Amino acid sequence: MRLAFWKKSDHTAGQVDFGRLPRHIAIILDGNGRWARRRGLPRTAGHKVGAETFRTIATYCRDIGIDYLTVYAFSTENWKRPQDEVDTIMTLLKRYLLEAIETMERDNVRLNFMGDLTVLSRELQELAAQCNAISARLTGCQCNICINYGGRAEIVHAARRFAEDCAAGIAKPEELTEEHFDGYLYSAGIPSPELLIRPGGEQRLSNFLLWQCAYTEFYSTEVLWPDFSKEDLHRAIAAYQGRDRRFGGVR
Ligand code: FPP
Repeated sequence: MRLAFWKKSDHTAGQVDFGRLPRHIAIILDGNGRWARRRGLPRTAGHKVGAETFRTIATYCRDIGIDYLTVYAFSTENWKRPQDEVDTIMTLLKRYLLEAIETMERDNVRLNFMGDLTVLSRELQELAAQCNAISARLTGCQCNICINYGGRAEIVHAARRFAEDCAAGIAKPEELTEEHFDGYLYSAGIPSPELLIRPGGEQRLSNFLLWQCAYTEFYSTEVLWPDFSKEDLHRAIAAYQGRDRRFGGVR
């Protein structure tokens, strides 16, 4: 068992038990706009740095042995943002995917996408499909990037698929269980996150992984996503490791 101590002078810094890491961490990427505004920069500058932060944190999660990292990159509601901001986020995603196609085999990081991708540009959809194909050959940390994702939309999408299977005689309503329904979600086959981190100080789920986070430990930090560091990840994991998880039972 390895223990790590970070910034001993900082009392909020975490002591992580690397032998007891969560298998799956989810993160709501928040605070990019504020990070930029505080520096007198356009919001899009925050997204650019935020994309770099994602790269750093994803690589680090792989290094320490996290099996799954799921990030909320673009929600079904984010289309309401100014067109230039939406365009910048899509351009950053494209750049990220292009680079990932070159590097993911070497880095052994798998990419998976959750959300309704059919509204994305054909180019982005093709890049996502290429990433999926490469990922199928790899074994490392799986990064799930949620794009045009909403938790309620995901549940409705799953319910519709189940109803279609019932109509086709493949499934029966009376045989539906939680485990069976799980298989219709974008996250089919992926264990629920044990830890959900929200940088940027807000204390809400914002329609993220509503089904999957039923028993997930929530950790919010004032740190804005572009500033989020490995030490901040350690603090979140240490806080999670200090929680008493009862899943509705008693101790
Ligand atoms: C939330 O911050 C951030 C987003 C809606 C976009 C996140 C997208 C990226 C970091 C770009 C690409 C992503 C990947 C995974 C390569 P906000 O703008 O709501 O911040 P605010 O609350 O301070 O305004």
